[in-house]
Amino acid sequence: VARVNVRLSTFGSCLLALSIARAGGEARMPGPWPIVRAHDAISLNAQCEACHSSIAREWRGSSHHEAFTDPSFQKALAKEPVPFCRGCHAPEAPPSGPTTATAEIGVACVTCHVLDRAPLAIPRAAPLPSAHPIAREPRFASADACARCHEFDFPDRDQRLAPLAMQRTVSEHRASPAADKRCAACHMPIVDGRRSHRFLGGRDPDFVRSAVEVVARRAGSEIHIEVRATAKLGHAFPTGDLFRRMIVRVHAGGTTTTKIFARRFGPREELPGKIVRAELADDRVTHARPAVVGLHAPGPARYEVVYQRVQALLAPDGHDAEIAGETILAAGEL
Ligand code: HEC
Ligand code: HEC
Ligand code: HEC
Ligand code: HEC
Ligand code: HEC
Repeated sequence: VARVNVRLSTFGSCLLALSIARAGGEARMPGPWPIVRAHDAISLNAQCEACHSSIAREWRGSSHHEAFTDPSFQKALAKEPVPFCRGCHAPEAPPSGPTTATAEIGVACVTCHVLDRAPLAIPRAAPLPSAHPIAREPRFASADACARCHEFDFPDRDQRLAPLAMQRTVSEHRASPAADKRCAACHMPIVDGRRSHRFLGGRDPDFVRSAVEVVARRAGSEIHIEVRATAKLGHAFPTGDLFRRMIVRVHAGGTTTTKIFARRFGPREELPGKIVRAELADDRVTHARPAVVGLHAPGPARYEVVYQRVQALLAPDGHDAEIAGETILAAGEL
């Protein structure tokens, strides 16, 4: 760390200023825009990166860094250009107005670590000597560090009887047998003595495959496929974005049968004259609820179980969809 050339002068003084600004109050946890800063996020972030270079390399390759520039997000934003979306995907920049380099930095070091005090860190019995003040916060070592961005409602609350979650990874986690394991335990494994900042998720095939086990068997002319959560999953499968899903596809006797496991939405009039997207069903895999497919197939059958990142549904029932990426979880013959 010490070998790297950094502009310590401005850095040290501004962190101290931050620590004085809100000393005493409860530390805020990371979240969407607005984040009030006295200093430009880009230059502040460049200083973190200069000293913490290996963490910076991991973060540069993570989807947090790409939260705004990510083509999948850009496509979705073009379709639905509301400032609300930029709040989390470009939390350092004002959500209205032109795109700036500050938007393109995505979810940055400073977004998670620098709020109203010195950089947030978890409490430690024997910390290493640091080059700057540190705010050690027990809450930063919990799901609170992620919750403000990873659990949120559709913004049209005034058109609904009750708020509807657009993503609810944190409640799914709380309801799972992994509730006592924090998000970082799985998403920030220790690599070279430090918590990794690659934040593996739905784009890493091995990580995705670790979430479930697939049992496929034949009994006479019936086939039975079951997808169960493993101890390595910490919430529903899939979780996160509302368009993630799992499909089970069976080819037998010249036809293909596809079962979709997902959150299902459809239009509903919730309040007089207010038609909103309502959640009609949710049959994603949880530790309490495996996905089960039973089919009559007397002849040879081929099956595949696939995790999909859907860009857009082209038919309301989901059977026609634009797929941004997928991972084969299991495939075989029965
Ligand atoms: C001048 C070099 C330097 C700069 C600039 C710097 N750090 Fe540090 N930081 C250190 C050193 C050295 C340590 C102590 C060794 C360690 O834990 O990596 C440390 C420790 C930390 C820790 C605590 C690790 C722990 O749990 O003990 C966090 C979090 C942190 N820095 C975040 C940041 C952030 C965010 C920025 C940018 C706002 C930043 N640092 C800028 C050198 C620097
Ligand atoms: C409160 C924070 C928040 C808001 C607001 C938000 N998102 Fe997201 N978005 C996330 C998080 C967290 C993820 C990561 C979940 C995942 O990867 O499954 C995500 C993932 C996505 C993805 C998937 C990206 C990929 O790499 O495949 C798309 C597309 C997306 N959001 C579009 C939008 C759009 C469009 C809006 C506005 C209608 C929006 N988001 C509003 C937090 C937010
Ligand atoms: C999405 C939020 C997020 C982002 C972005 C992020 N961090 Fe962290 N970082 C955390 C959390 C949470 C922890 C504590 C993990 C734990 O529970 O031990 C952490 C831990 C650390 C540590 C201590 C690592 C260790 O195990 O000793 C340092 C140093 C650090 N971060 C620096 C950075 C730097 C530098 C960047 C940008 C290059 C960055 N972080 C980006 C959330 C984030
Ligand atoms: C400031 C908001 C914010 C915070 C805080 C935050 N995230 Fe995220 N996270 C996002 C957004 C936005 C995305 C989606 C990026 C994209 O478009 O691909 C994301 C994506 C992810 C992904 C998906 C990676 C992938 O490639 O599928 C994981 C895993 C993740 N975050 C875990 C965490 C964890 C764990 C924490 C807490 C330590 C955390 N995040 C804190 C906003 C945030
Ligand atoms: C016991 C380990 C474990 C814990 C704890 C855990 N996760 Fe995950 N997470 C996984 C696995 C495995 C996957 C890949 C399978 C999937 O997408 O569900 C994943 C996927 C994700 C994704 C990517 C979703 C997608 O498909 O793009 C996000 C975002 C995420 N987790 C956020 C979180 C947050 C936030 C927490 C804490 C509230 C958390 N996770 C707790 C294991 C865990």
